Amino acid sequence: MKIGLFDSGMGGLTLLEEALIQRPGADYLFYADTDHVPYGLRSREEIMQFTSQAVAFLADEGCECIVLACNTATAVAAEALRAQYTMPIVGIEPAVKSALAHHADKRVLVVATPVTIRGEKLLRLIDQFEDHDAVDLCALPDLVCMAESEQYNALPYLKNALAAFEPQNYSEVVLGCTHFNYFRDNFLTLFPNAEVIDGAAGTIRRMCSLLPPETNDAGSVTFYCSGREVTDAESLSAFRRRLERLRRMRTL
Ligand code: DGL
Repeated sequence: MKIGLFDSGMGGLTLLEEALIQRPGADYLFYADTDHVPYGLRSREEIMQFTSQAVAFLADEGCECIVLACNTATAVAAEALRAQYTMPIVGIEPAVKSALAHHADKRVLVVATPVTIRGEKLLRLIDQFEDHDAVDLCALPDLVCMAESEQYNALPYLKNALAAFEPQNYSEVVLGCTHFNYFRDNFLTLFPNAEVIDGAAGTIRRMCSLLPPETNDAGSVTFYCSGREVTDAESLSAFRRRLERLRRMRTL
């Protein structure tokens, strides 16, 4: 079974890592649109166009299910793509539901790209819940490029960008961009008493629920950068290095 995972860049590895745990026997095609990252600063039209191209590529390669491993692309393009294709298209959304289930009397902070934070979809998602007033939003426009360049000390940037949000007021910090998982250690330093959560496990659980039962196949992963298969040893080891960091961040 071929499954396509798509992100603007390396953030989507957060979901690949989770998929390899929950469904190791599939053949994964991981598509990072490295020619066009970051999406979070682009227009909705551009994001729609680039996401459509990536999904068309993965469908042509024979994928029977696509995971939009990007909150920004999900917010902009998921509905339109689901109307266009018959195969399942699963998207990731900020884990607001889970955060609000645990926040008790403290607040929830959702951090994401500017497009996700400004988008109607996130506001609609939050408004469904009775205690929607407990949610604060903050766009972090620089973090995606820092993740792409493996610059993982984001503390000075985050301290400044999050200065308005008093750590003691928050019990939940929701990482609403898959690139932000690379900085889980940074967020835990700034919000030592909060849970730092994301939607990766839930999204992959949803993916698994839509697929036929797993076989005993060995499974495989093929990486693509904007439609070009990655075959050189140096780039492949960079993908593995990033997966390793995400595994480490998960254990914190
Ligand atoms: N990783 C993507 C997300 O989850 C967006 C990154 C970007 O801005 O390109 O929102």
